[in-house]
Amino acid sequence: MHSDTSSSQPLAHSPIWQALQAQAAEFKQASLKGLFAVDPQRAERFSLELPEFLLDFSKNLLDQEVFVNLLRLAEEAELPRWCADFFAGKPINATEGRAVLHPALRGGLQEDIEIDGDFVTAQVEAELERLKKFVVLLHNGALTGYRGKRFTDVVNLGVGGSHLGPQTTIEALRAHRKGDVAVHFVSNVDGTQLTDVLAGLDADSTLFIVSSKTFTTSETMTNARSAHAWLQRAMPEVDGEVLLQQHFAAVTSSPDKAQQFGVLPERTFRFWDWVGGRFSLWSSIGLPIAIACGFENFRALLDGAASMDKHFREAPLETNAPVIMALLSVWYCTFMGYPAHAVLPYEQALHMLPSYLQQADMESNGKSTTRAGVAVDYPTGPLIWGQTGINGQHAFYQYLHQSPEVVPADFIGSVAPGHDLDGHHEILLANMFAQSQALMNGVDAESVASELAAKGLSQEEIKRLTSFKVHRGGKPSNTILLKELDPRSLGALIALYEHKIFAQGVILQIYSFDQWGVELGKGLANKLEPKLAAGDLSGEDSSTTQLIEYYRRKKNG
Ligand code: F6P
Repeated sequence: MHSDTSSSQPLAHSPIWQALQAQAAEFKQASLKGLFAVDPQRAERFSLELPEFLLDFSKNLLDQEVFVNLLRLAEEAELPRWCADFFAGKPINATEGRAVLHPALRGGLQEDIEIDGDFVTAQVEAELERLKKFVVLLHNGALTGYRGKRFTDVVNLGVGGSHLGPQTTIEALRAHRKGDVAVHFVSNVDGTQLTDVLAGLDADSTLFIVSSKTFTTSETMTNARSAHAWLQRAMPEVDGEVLLQQHFAAVTSSPDKAQQFGVLPERTFRFWDWVGGRFSLWSSIGLPIAIACGFENFRALLDGAASMDKHFREAPLETNAPVIMALLSVWYCTFMGYPAHAVLPYEQALHMLPSYLQQADMESNGKSTTRAGVAVDYPTGPLIWGQTGINGQHAFYQYLHQSPEVVPADFIGSVAPGHDLDGHHEILLANMFAQSQALMNGVDAESVASELAAKGLSQEEIKRLTSFKVHRGGKPSNTILLKELDPRSLGALIALYEHKIFAQGVILQIYSFDQWGVELGKGLANKLEPKLAAGDLSGEDSSTTQLIEYYRRKKNG
């Protein structure tokens, strides 16, 4: 078991924790506008410029004293030691007895690491080389279906980390596509999705990639079997095993299971136990990215992430972007009691980022047991939600502006547009800057009244309407302004969030790299599935019994 010296000293209730609690009570009433008024250097003081982006965290409800106390909290939580242990390959995923080494996938380690007698860098490079060759063959048209047609379409069958990373990345890099092989994704066991995707495809030129770390996930394996049946219907004369060999590839950390399923060893791409599913897009799980965007762009994505690894490893806490993001999240979620956090990309290409971060953050830090094995008595991570900012403005921003709830937000945009249409990008960015400004400043009653008076409204009308138009303001946000949304900066951006998640877990003394909470439902679904058709329901609760009985009655007419 990884040594956890800090677990015997719970941070909650320590003097620094209590100091922050007292400051949180005070800062709930603070005026963000006021904080800017008293400090002309505030934007500069609370911003960081990295090679790929500017992080402006000045519009947050904190001052220098709070910031210093948050940094002390990180020190007392031994974040630097945990960070060193993480990059050294120590088994910091202690409940599963594993190292956590996704930085190794992108050259982000300071020194190579030996695990079970093998150096990880050599393994990673060998697998990347295999991936590269496969992508070249696919792009050249050298890989064909059984009847000799080149593959024009690839369907990735995978869910969670075996889906979200690759699709989020391909969408984000739409301006960086290479080759003419179309990549599709099927993650849902709801057959509607597979049916819809297959409806547009020709079996002769379709290759399926079964992406599953475990190669046992029921949704993915069901989709894989149905995809195989679809091929078989299109090519009834061909032996089923041959179809699996010719039209399937696999990405997994259980290659033996992929081969039992029927995928050829030369089309099975590996990754390892020390890569968590939600951190796996940098591994062979990124095969769809390399197909859609080219291997060089995949490499650039890895390089960008490695530059963030280096920054996280080396920068002092006070100028360390992931650490600062983690501390702000701890400040809001744990100390101020704001349970949610909005991710608001002002970049159409990043439209899947909120979903991606939902898994990365919530599956990691949605925990209720400390590393010492006792129940936490504080929130451990925010509910992550959001969508593209402009669409959100016409949907839920009303809530952000005028609900009594405070939802801290990340605004994410890019200086360079991903298209060449005149005028669009300035409108987009002006909206992004305006929204964070409006959330910060709000509008007080006096300003509302004078605005209404200027429009010629009577005193009586002004009195009646003013309270409805007041915006309290003081709603905090970060802004991440990328120079350009390219493979390198995207890699850095995703790694920024990955390390934020890890740092937050360390500070709150939880384990971020396991996910026992998702196992319970999987087990129950497996148990209930045969009961939908028939069988004894005694022992089930009355609601589940009622639902299954209703299903059976209606299904059978
Ligand atoms: O959602 C739970 C989970 O275990 C994720 O952590 C993982 O990304 C996903 O299921 C898919 O698992 P697999 O890649 O093994 O099919």
